[in-house]
Amino acid sequence: MDWSESTRRSFLKQFGAAGAAALAVTKAEGLGLGAQTPASQPASTPTDQKQIATRDARMAWWHEAKFGMFIHWGLYSIIGQHEWAKEHQGVPIPQYEILAKHHHPKPNAARDWARVARRAGQKYMVMTTKHHEGFCNWDTKLTDYNAMKQGPGRDLVREYVEAARAEGLRVGFYYSLMDWHHPDGAICKTDEAARRRFVDYTHGLIRELLTNYGKIDVLWYDVSWPLTAAQWESERMNEMVFELQPDIIVNNRNGLEGDFATPEQHIEASAVGRAWESCMTLNESWGFNRTDDQWKTPKTIVNNLITCARGGGNYLLNIGPEPDGSVPPASIEVLEAVGKWMDTNSKAIYGSERMLADGYALENFTRKGTTLYVHVYNWPGHTPAAEWLDFYKPEAVVAIGGLKPKALSARLLKTGQKVEFTQDEFSFRLTGLPLVAPDQPATTIEVECDSEPGVDHSAMRPLWPRYKVDISI
Ligand code: GLC
Repeated sequence: MDWSESTRRSFLKQFGAAGAAALAVTKAEGLGLGAQTPASQPASTPTDQKQIATRDARMAWWHEAKFGMFIHWGLYSIIGQHEWAKEHQGVPIPQYEILAKHHHPKPNAARDWARVARRAGQKYMVMTTKHHEGFCNWDTKLTDYNAMKQGPGRDLVREYVEAARAEGLRVGFYYSLMDWHHPDGAICKTDEAARRRFVDYTHGLIRELLTNYGKIDVLWYDVSWPLTAAQWESERMNEMVFELQPDIIVNNRNGLEGDFATPEQHIEASAVGRAWESCMTLNESWGFNRTDDQWKTPKTIVNNLITCARGGGNYLLNIGPEPDGSVPPASIEVLEAVGKWMDTNSKAIYGSERMLADGYALENFTRKGTTLYVHVYNWPGHTPAAEWLDFYKPEAVVAIGGLKPKALSARLLKTGQKVEFTQDEFSFRLTGLPLVAPDQPATTIEVECDSEPGVDHSAMRPLWPRYKVDISI
């Protein structure tokens, strides 16, 4: 289907939230389907060569993990109006700097984040060490504009690292190259002496972060404005990073390819062979935004996680803690519901592999080897059509057009209950299911297949036996 903007709008109007969920699936797979050709990754430099040679080993835990927590926390959290407040509102630096003195987070707030993450089924965390505002959350020797020397009087990055490890989670550092505070942060584009100073400062900060906190698992660069990769000396930057942390993985936002792509606020599978991670907010802001109440539902989050896993990607879901470090209650509520779902269904997520699937209106899919997981997020229950159509009997029926391999057995993950089914070349019908969804926000049916599963209803469209122009009954 060609998703022109008007088709998209009328689809959303017609199907509402369910339509949006299905649309996310279609859109993601639309890109995924076109991407069955392997990604070309020219190894242009010795660093790249080494990165590529060690990539599978370095990334194994991350591919298995699938689900991480992003944390945006800084001085902007005190204003509580989105992390871009300084720039969007034009707050002068001498005003903004005053916040640094009034930042007094509660002790060990990070421990709460880590607990919430673990309970949600997230396996790693990525915290803003320095966002665009330029304030360093750790005890750096390179500027006084840091948590140790200002209000907090503590190294907030150290607390975070210790909290993540205490909850058994992998540790990631977000680092914004763009810096709105540093005197050379903009002029470096045109003034070579300023560029030299700013690049040395930047490399120095990254060196500290990767030297003083033990083993770090992810380095998550952000916004490379205003310099090019060559001007940032990003090759040399990554060389230093891998020298300090040989097992680390890095993203692609310092102007180089890095180990993984970072689609933001949408789900988009990279070409086969290229790792990717969708980062997304829980409401509409990364940093704490007091009155942003556009919270995504657990159903949307679970479905997004499934869509990422289906495309072989990861899902990095953000929280924006309050100034004292508390996680907003609305975020906790959603993450707890997701965690409850993961208690039953995580085996369909962790370690799952990229699969071929297109958009469906009731269900989404993941797979592991030859096992297919059908995640029904819009439970069909009873349909009046069952009165006349054998197709919908015995109720309830979950029917999937275009399942590729032969199914051997099926069961509900929630209860372990065996599920009866029929299968012909067009439709795979799971029958006699409960009328009410056994699990929320999605019920997972585990289907053992005789080979690697894929689902593609559009592939069978040309194969339908057609009848007359008149009705055939
Ligand atoms: C964008 C935003 C930034 C946020 C990031 C997360 O780059 O500018 O505020 O930290 O997305 O991916």
